Amino acid sequence: MNVGVVGSGYVGLVAGACFADAGNRVICVDADPSKIEMLQRGEIPIYEPGLKEIVERNAEAGRLIFTTDLVAGVKQSRVLFLAVGTPEAADGSADLSAVLEVARQIGKAMDGYRIVVMKSTVPVGTHRKVSEAIAAQTGHPFDYVSNPEFLKEGAAIEDFTRPDRVVIGTTNPTAVAVMKELYAPFMRKSERIFVMDPASAEMTKYAANALLATKISFMNEIAGLCERFGADVDLVRRGVGSDSRLGHAFLFPGVGYGGSCFPKDVSALMKMGEAVGRPVLIVNAVHQVNQRQRKFFAQRVLEHFGEKCPETTLAVWGLAFKARTDDVRESPAIACVRMFLEKGMKVRAYDPEAAETGRAAVGGGITICRDGYEALDGADALVIFTDWPEFRNPDFDTMAQKLRQRLVFDGRNMYDPLQMAQRGFTYYCIGRPSVLPKEL
Ligand SMILES: NC(=O)c1ccc[n+]([C@@H]2O[C@H](COP(=O)([O-])OP(=O)(O)OC[C@H]3O[C@@H](n4cnc5c(N)ncnc54)[C@H](O)[C@@H]3O)[C@@H](O)[C@H]2O)c1
Repeated sequence: MNVGVVGSGYVGLVAGACFADAGNRVICVDADPSKIEMLQRGEIPIYEPGLKEIVERNAEAGRLIFTTDLVAGVKQSRVLFLAVGTPEAADGSADLSAVLEVARQIGKAMDGYRIVVMKSTVPVGTHRKVSEAIAAQTGHPFDYVSNPEFLKEGAAIEDFTRPDRVVIGTTNPTAVAVMKELYAPFMRKSERIFVMDPASAEMTKYAANALLATKISFMNEIAGLCERFGADVDLVRRGVGSDSRLGHAFLFPGVGYGGSCFPKDVSALMKMGEAVGRPVLIVNAVHQVNQRQRKFFAQRVLEHFGEKCPETTLAVWGLAFKARTDDVRESPAIACVRMFLEKGMKVRAYDPEAAETGRAAVGGGITICRDGYEALDGADALVIFTDWPEFRNPDFDTMAQKLRQRLVFDGRNMYDPLQMAQRGFTYYCIGRPSVLPKEL
């Protein structure tokens, strides 16, 4: 099938590459010429495990091409996916300007029947706005499908090719049949396609993300209570997660969620509720807890050093909002590093993949190091934000030698508090009793 994907970011590039890998002819369009030039040279603008190999294989086979020419993309494709960004607008709602602009351009370029598929996360009701924007530019027939994407950065290929579910939001049988054909290669074990109306499909995406964000904020609240009552949230988490109705996923306390999805989707859902006079109280609380969590963590560091902040150097491990991605959008690490810099602290940061995106997001003023140990050189404390696997079992002797003080603030509960105290560290973590060396 001839497929066009407009927007070649984390979602569009993965979708385009995976559809091409299933034998389709895919044309990926993006408005950013530098991104397209990189892709045409065989370079991948983002870090996503396994993506490079798939892009290379399919570009070489001539099944995957990249262009800035949207008109060519529309002319060559029967099915057109929209995967452009829907960032948070100043008022907290989803900014639909790129989506509506692309819809208008698609309408103008259409020369016959098309199926237009929305992969971007868009507020409930957007299917009407986009359909109207296309129809205003063309007399050609088209069908609209809401097909929200559920992939996770860091496991995007796996999620796309072995999805938990594919939601197809349309009432049109032709469009359903085409979508099922397109997704059939990823449904070989069992079919996990849910066909529904567009509004329900749009809502499914927001409800899923908001519920995942709720689990995180809920556990962060419980972690705060554990600290007050001397309970250990890690034991509580295991006890709670073993209930099959709840499950273990997303119950890890930490510095709060970030990334390009949860914060903006939670905020957009709040706005949707306000717009129809039905405020979503739970989601408001989820957002507030998340904002508070990163502040609590940064404050713990700032309070420890107090007036000595301007003379303090921090080693920071991890800038990405989570492991296995270079994405730093809404990363708690970036927000906290900015707070440290405002207090005059120096920051020596290391991230395996997000060093450059992190430096750009902070806006300079930090030293980027080549590895985690280099970041420790002459630092007064280590602060951990991202749960990269390489941080799990570090060489604690080297850590102790390089740090000026054996002091670790761990936003991901990576280590055992008792063992850290035995190694002579003062170790602050989340929702577990902090153990100081002198207490042993
Ligand atoms: N990143 C994720 O993990 C994820 C997961 C599920 C859903 N989503 C949703 O998918 C959508 C895309 O997210 P993303 O993370 O891939 O964003 P992204 O910012 O990585 O990519 C968006 C791309 O669209 C391009 N673009 C913007 N305007 C354009 C235009 N007018 N014409 C052509 N290209 C244009 C940008 O240059 C960019 O390359 C969002 O709505 C997001 O909420 C993202």
